Amino acid sequence: MPTKKVPKKRRVLSGVQPSGEAHLGNYLGAFRQWVALQETDDCLFCIVDQHAITGDYDPRQLPQRIFDMAVSLLAVGLDPDKCSLFVQSEVPEHTELAWLFNAVTPVGELERMTQYKDKASRLESVPAGILNYPILQAADILIYRAEAVPVGEDQLQHLELTREIARRWNARFGEFFPEPQAIVSGMGRVMGLDGQAKMSKSLGNTVGILAEAPEIWARIRTAVTDPQRVTRQDPGRPEVCNVYHLHEHFPPDVGLDDIAQQCRTARRGCVECKRILADTITREFEPFRERAAYYRERKDEVLEILAAGARRASAIARRTMAEVRSRMGLDWRVALG
Ligand code: AMP
Ligand code: TRP
Repeated sequence: MPTKKVPKKRRVLSGVQPSGEAHLGNYLGAFRQWVALQETDDCLFCIVDQHAITGDYDPRQLPQRIFDMAVSLLAVGLDPDKCSLFVQSEVPEHTELAWLFNAVTPVGELERMTQYKDKASRLESVPAGILNYPILQAADILIYRAEAVPVGEDQLQHLELTREIARRWNARFGEFFPEPQAIVSGMGRVMGLDGQAKMSKSLGNTVGILAEAPEIWARIRTAVTDPQRVTRQDPGRPEVCNVYHLHEHFPPDVGLDDIAQQCRTARRGCVECKRILADTITREFEPFRERAAYYRERKDEVLEILAAGARRASAIARRTMAEVRSRMGLDWRVALG
């Protein structure tokens, strides 16, 4: 009987910094999509420890942060039977390819990156790693010749540069790398509880996805609401209120319309409105806390999941590098015969 050809699945890669426990912005902006994509696509998810060293960090804490991020990802529902989860430094080909991409990446393009400008402006002396960060990111993606990259909106510029690097490399050494597309969840970027900047671990304006009820409440209670609502009696504007926007992602039992209405008419105060949000988040993340507790108790199982992920990733990465070295004239021993 002729075997039916199974269509090849689309290759997907994404990465996250090992910032310890994941936060709500990571979850809404990225991980929720990762969990959905593992059902349909050939997915690789990478904890990027070599990106983490470009910023200020404590080497003594890095190993635990890597482990905690792995637990967070398993907790939100990544399934090692459906995707490969691994740590960047266990596949050293990423950094090798990044070095080779240096040859086709204009410094001017790197200097244009918003994330670079933002970070560099706050530093007196800027490490080259902060400038070259997007080259390593391009290597993370292209080493698997990934076609799609699910990320939060803040990463679109880095993805555009990845495509540029693929184009320039292909033009110089022959068509090989695909130009990967970003997959962005419709929600844009999640603002931090301070309402000032995007939610980010380094800004301390986050809610952890594994936090217990009292901590979730303690965090949500501090959230900034509509500044025009100075007293309990002032009517609020849900459209400018970050707490309302968070309600949109965690549909409350009373309904979103009720939240908006009661805010506009000042019938419900901000504290009560936040209480409802904290309760909904606590309930929705309950299964995450349970799974996290399971994996924290089973360190060896987590380490084996990461090892298996790295083995599969390495096999693909080695094939890519063999071709890249050959096209760039770096397989000189073979070429010399
Ligand atoms: P990071 O923790 O910066 O490595 O981010 C991991 C993933 O979460 C990336 O896809 C980011 O785009 C996404 N992400 C991080 N913070 C936010 C945010 N505040 N809003 C939306 N997505 C985010
Ligand atoms: N730069 C990304 C961030 O800060 C993390 C990252 C590194 C990444 N390598 C990647 C994301 C590859 C997607 C694909 O969020």
